[in-house]
Amino acid sequence: MKILIAGSNGMLGHDLQEVLKNKHELILTTSKTLDITDKNHTIDFILNNKPDIVINSAAYTNVDGCEENQDLAYSVNGQGPKNLAIACSELDIPLVHISTDYVFNGKNNRPWVEDDEIGPISVYGKSKLQGEINIRENLDKFFIIRTAWLYGINGGNFPKTMLELAKTHPEITVVTDEVGCPTYTLDLAKAIAELIESDYYGIYHITNSGSCSWFDFAEYIFEIANLDIKVIPVTASEFARPAPRPSYSVLENKKWLENEFKPLRNYKEAIKDYIKLIK
Ligand SMILES: NC(=O)c1ccc[n+]([C@@H]2O[C@H](COP(=O)([O-])OP(=O)(O)OC[C@H]3O[C@@H](n4cnc5c(N)ncnc54)[C@H](OP(=O)(O)O)[C@@H]3O)[C@@H](O)[C@H]2O)c1
Repeated sequence: MKILIAGSNGMLGHDLQEVLKNKHELILTTSKTLDITDKNHTIDFILNNKPDIVINSAAYTNVDGCEENQDLAYSVNGQGPKNLAIACSELDIPLVHISTDYVFNGKNNRPWVEDDEIGPISVYGKSKLQGEINIRENLDKFFIIRTAWLYGINGGNFPKTMLELAKTHPEITVVTDEVGCPTYTLDLAKAIAELIESDYYGIYHITNSGSCSWFDFAEYIFEIANLDIKVIPVTASEFARPAPRPSYSVLENKKWLENEFKPLRNYKEAIKDYIKLIK
């Protein structure tokens, strides 16, 4: 297939390239060559290149930054996906779009399923939800993939921050009352590669299996990296940040499993591989 990737320089974009390049023809775009907020250019670019499918890995992902730069958040995360959806609709091709666990409010006592009520509590979550809505209103053939707590080789992320802090800090304070599903972008990219071979369109939750708090995740990272770091638990309210985060955003990969795709490996296996790679 001829696959156009928007935001191909990002953390997930990088691993999508790695996973897809041997089997597919890739049209790789960045914010410089394809600014998805520029409606006319986006539509012209896609119509001229005639891909078989578009994958949108572009987003404004700075969760705290979104609180201050709301216009930018809604433009990139809301309007951008709409422009891509309009172009895909013209060509009658599918759009794969990446969304987030932050569309949920975090108040649940079981993992969230795809059709649970959404209720984002941050500007980032609200802008990403707007992207989902815009796609659904403008296109039939879409895969909207909600994922969570991403880390990968090509970007800043929680495991890298922990390992960096560990160089200078024997004790590190980490939030204990936010629980989610750490997910390796390489594993997510492989899942996307499988999904696009199907026409099972719709909204999916796709994450590595298992779940933990940021505190548990930090402790596990130091354990497998053989680092003697004391992790000190704090609550989210003690660790003030501009954007609120959902306290419980574990995503059940219900539709993925119903469509007989294999569960992604446990996050504990995935992070082991990742740490071997970056250490
Ligand atoms: N990171 C997470 O923990 C997480 C969790 C759940 C869901 N997600 C979602 O997963 C997807 C991938 O995330 P990621 O962590 O790989 O993001 P990332 O590393 O921040 O990459 C995002 C990419 O989007 C590009 N971009 C920004 N504005 C653009 C525009 N106007 N037009 C075109 N490209 C633009 C950026 O390019 P420039 O650098 O050139 O601006 C960047 O390369 C996003 O949709 C994100 O919302 C992420």
